Amino acid sequence: MPYDAADKVLERGLRNIWYGICPSNFIGTKPVQLHRCGYRMVMWRDNRGKLYALEDYCPHRGAPMSLGINLGDRIACGYHGVQVDGNGVAVSVPGSPGCKLEGLKATKSFPVEEHAGLIFAYIGDEKHPNPPPLVLPEQLTSPEYSSFLCYAEWGGDYRFVMDNVMDPMHGSYLHKQSHSMSFGEAQAQFQIRDTEHGYVFEKVGQRNVNFDWTEWGETGLHWMRLEIPYPKTGGPGGNFVIVGTYTPITSTMAAVIHWRCRKVEGWQRDAWRFLYKNRLEARHWHVLEQDRVMIEQYAPDARDYENLYQHDTGLVRLRRRMRSLAQEQIREGAASAA
Ligand code: FES
Ligand SMILES: [Fe+2]
Repeated sequence: MPYDAADKVLERGLRNIWYGICPSNFIGTKPVQLHRCGYRMVMWRDNRGKLYALEDYCPHRGAPMSLGINLGDRIACGYHGVQVDGNGVAVSVPGSPGCKLEGLKATKSFPVEEHAGLIFAYIGDEKHPNPPPLVLPEQLTSPEYSSFLCYAEWGGDYRFVMDNVMDPMHGSYLHKQSHSMSFGEAQAQFQIRDTEHGYVFEKVGQRNVNFDWTEWGETGLHWMRLEIPYPKTGGPGGNFVIVGTYTPITSTMAAVIHWRCRKVEGWQRDAWRFLYKNRLEARHWHVLEQDRVMIEQYAPDARDYENLYQHDTGLVRLRRRMRSLAQEQIREGAASAA
C-alpha cells in the first residue's frame, strides 16, 4: 500500500489521546528531554514532586528548555534566562523586562498524570486542548491486583509492537520454549468478539491454556491486554495478566510499556511479589527479548511483503481502526483549516 497522509499521522502517533511516556522515577528535579509522538518534550518536578511537561523549545529563540534551570513551577532558559511556567507562559524576560513576550503563552504544555508507576501525557491538537478522562484497565486500579511495571525502548515502529501483541499465535512458536507458553495447540482458528471499549481476538475453543487471546481497548488511552495462565511453579494467584501500551519515540523507536499483573492479595501477594523478583522476572525479560529481536530486525517496509492469513485478522482489524482514526483526524484538521 502506498505511504499516504494517514500513515504519516500514524507514524508519529494519533492525537487527542493519552500516551504512556516513561516510568515516574525517570523524572526528578533535573529537567529531562524526551522525544514522543513527534514532539520534543521537557519534563521536570518541583521540590514537592509535582510534575510538569512542556514542549522543549524556549519561546525566545528555541533553545532546549531542558538545559535550563529548574525554578520549581517554571524553568529559566539556560541561554538568556527567559522563565517559562508549567502552563507554557513566559512569566519573566529578565534581559528585557516588560517586553511583549512577557505574559505570553508561547510554549505548548502537556497535561500529565501518574498511575501505576508510569507518567502519562495527553497529546492533544489545537482543537482539543483538554484531555478526556484517562481510564485504565482494572488490573492497574483495583486493590485486588498487584502489578509490576516493565518499561523498554525498542528499535522499531510502535505499530510492529502492537501487531506483535495482537498476534497470540506467535506464543506457540517464538516463545515455545518459555516456561509458560509450551502448552496447547500450535494450530488454531480465531474469532473476534466486540467489547465495550474495543474487541477481543481469541482462539476458538482454547482458553486458559496458552496465550489464547488479546484485547484492544480505547479508554482515553489505547491499551492492550492478554492473559497467560501460569503453571503451579508460578506461585499463588490467578492468571498472569499483561497490560500494555505502546508509544512512538521516533518512527524507528518505540516505548514498550507493560504491566505484569496478578489478582492476588494478602500473604499470597507478598509470596508472588517475592517469587516474581527472584525467579519470574528474568524469565519474562527473556521472553520479551525474543519479541524485541524479531521487531528490531524487521525491515521498515516489511508490510509490503505480507501475505496475511486467518491468524492475522486481529491485527488487520487493529490497523483498520487506527487508519480510520487517522483519517478522521485528517478530515477534521482539513475542515478546521478551511
Ligand atoms: S533562547 Fe531561551 S532565553 Fe533566549
Ligand atoms: Fe511475544
